[in-house]
Amino acid sequence: MEFPVKTGAPASQRTECAILPVFDDGQLRGATKEIDVAARGLIKQLVKHGDAPARLGSATLIHRTDGTAASRWLLVGCGKHADFDLRRFATALNAAIAALRAGGTKEAISYLAYGTTLDAETAARQTVEIARAALYRFDELKSRTDPAVKLGRLGIGLAKGVEVAIARRGIKVGTAIANGADLARNLGNRPPNVCTPSHLAEAAREIAKTHANIQVKVLTETDMKRLGMGALLSVTQGSEEPPRLIVLHYRGAGSKEAPIALCGKGVTFDTGGISLKPPPKMDEMKFDMCGAASVLGTIAALGELQPTCNVVAVVPACENMPSGRATRPGDIVKSLSGQTIEVINTDAEGRMILCDAMTYVRQQYNPRCLIDVATLTGACVIALGNVYTGLFSNNDELANALLASGERSLDVAWRMPVHDDYGESLRSNFADFANAGSRDGGASVAANFLARFVDQLPWAHLDIAGVAWRANSQKGATGRPVPLLVDYVLRTQAQ
Ligand code: BES
Ligand code: MN
Ligand code: ZN
Repeated sequence: MEFPVKTGAPASQRTECAILPVFDDGQLRGATKEIDVAARGLIKQLVKHGDAPARLGSATLIHRTDGTAASRWLLVGCGKHADFDLRRFATALNAAIAALRAGGTKEAISYLAYGTTLDAETAARQTVEIARAALYRFDELKSRTDPAVKLGRLGIGLAKGVEVAIARRGIKVGTAIANGADLARNLGNRPPNVCTPSHLAEAAREIAKTHANIQVKVLTETDMKRLGMGALLSVTQGSEEPPRLIVLHYRGAGSKEAPIALCGKGVTFDTGGISLKPPPKMDEMKFDMCGAASVLGTIAALGELQPTCNVVAVVPACENMPSGRATRPGDIVKSLSGQTIEVINTDAEGRMILCDAMTYVRQQYNPRCLIDVATLTGACVIALGNVYTGLFSNNDELANALLASGERSLDVAWRMPVHDDYGESLRSNFADFANAGSRDGGASVAANFLARFVDQLPWAHLDIAGVAWRANSQKGATGRPVPLLVDYVLRTQAQ
């Protein structure tokens, strides 16, 4: 999909459809006002007679465009002018795209950001991200596909004087994020008999092939045994499908500069193991590798954008299956860190594979900070629903930077508590500690477990269990938190 910048006068800009905002005070602004003047007050009349509702998210197609170069107008309700912000901009644009799609429009120009206080780079970036997400489809396994969406070009209309270069930068960043999020969505949506640990490794190899400064390394079960990754091995041992530990290293700065480390949970199917999950919705546990998919998508986006920093992504990938060789509740294993863990619940497997991957990346890459991303707990879904990612951190600066990146990216996170007392229930009479404890505060208990593997290193844990995919009729991966992570990396290298 193409996103050209349009700085010409809106009234004389040829297009199949001009997307124009209307606000609830009846006053016309920006491009809507300019076009209305050229059309001798036609829009004013429509608004006055209630034919173009200003309610946020309504969209009215008008076929009469007297004296202007657009074939049609799409008047989009934007609510109260004083409240118009990035979130409302997104709602309005989504409504516009839904209407254009229904009408089979091939090309349009959006004036939703024209002459507003929205920052041009952010508005351009979001236009791309929102349009690409709205038009995303996963039909690679359908034998009969719906006809392709016709919308192939969406112009971004900007007022004269707005720096075109700044908007172009937004389009570039938005495109890279959309590509990374599409990759993450595709990996998440693929069924668990296709998206195996080896498939994730293959996807990482593909990313490395595209960019000279991205290197890939894939460890096998033999390597894990040699290193002593007893926690990761205990999760995979019940599966026929071989595990992989994937390392994808983006080098945009000198080798002396410590990298940002990303660690993504890659459980390609989580049955719960011997602590077997109940049948309802178990198919959704194919999405238990969305943390992995998001860090791979992030590295792919960084390859496109080439920021001057180093980022290393580590993905522990395996299945969690019950079998005669599977780990039993009560088994005690030794993690790569040397700490011993009593497996109370084999369904608390995410923390088991993450802890060894986190220790590995610290030993091998000495990172300046570590961010892990995981569909880790049902408790986080109960706490935050499908709106906010749960953010847990031992470092305020890192946490605040991630929260700010979430807000800017419309990929929001909410800070959750880390406290030693959440570890009380992880006490074990037989090993250093247990892998599962109290259900109450379960998301913070899981974070407490992970914290035992980071010591003083600035660390943040993103629990994406509620946001990585949508359920029911909209079932599918969201690509979150690729926008947040890419924004974070771009912001840190700027300093
Ligand atoms: N992958 C699940 C978490 C999950 C559950 C994400 C439902 C999204 C929806 C994770 O491996 C898990 O099973 N966690 C357990 C931990 C418990 C056994 C301590 C949970 O949340 O119930
Ligand atoms: Mn589980
Ligand atoms: Zn899991």
